[in-house]
Amino acid sequence: MKFFLDTANPEEIREVASWGILDGVTTNPTLIAKEKKGFKELITEICSLISGPVSVECVSSKWDAMVAEARELASLASNVVIKIPATIDGLKATRILQTEGIRVNMTLIFSPSQALLAAKAGAAFVSPFIGRLDDISHNGMDLVDQIVTIFNQYNFNTEVIVASVRHPGHVVEAALIGADIVTVPYAVMEKLIRHPLTDIGLEKFLQDWAKVKK
Ligand code: G3P
Repeated sequence: MKFFLDTANPEEIREVASWGILDGVTTNPTLIAKEKKGFKELITEICSLISGPVSVECVSSKWDAMVAEARELASLASNVVIKIPATIDGLKATRILQTEGIRVNMTLIFSPSQALLAAKAGAAFVSPFIGRLDDISHNGMDLVDQIVTIFNQYNFNTEVIVASVRHPGHVVEAALIGADIVTVPYAVMEKLIRHPLTDIGLEKFLQDWAKVKK
């Protein structure tokens, strides 16, 4: 399972990369807006911090403008992946970009049919937003299960990025289903490794070790 960090913050990326478990980064306009740096400068910096894919969102809504914007973003670094929304224009743009070797992460996926068409159009990744489905009393993880089943059934190479992750349970459920990737906010990434019994056990071992004659 690959772990991406869902952030546009270079310090968070540096930190998690130093843990030795980071495979990629996903950004979106909301995450970019939280940072104070210029957009292109920020993306170039992020892409230099990690060799894996860095998803950058296209903000155009018509397919031809999406393609032009995506080409420009892809020229910033070889590991840029273009986030394109799951719309008809998004499908058209995805097919064109795929033939040019520009990888697309089709985003804002909320149904299995959207994911199926994204894969047909040649998207390298799809991003089902599970937390936002949970927020409206749906089960986001059911969507991931359906997408993984469909992709396996037809041997699609498109990788599933479980996005809008809110807590460690989401990560574990995604792993049990066999999703290719989870993209995790920094706060959740920290929670994945922390456990109170580990802290208590460690403290006890250190106290006892202090009593050992050395
Ligand atoms: O990768 C998409 C993710 O950032 C969306 O998360 O918490 O805004 O639903 P959220």
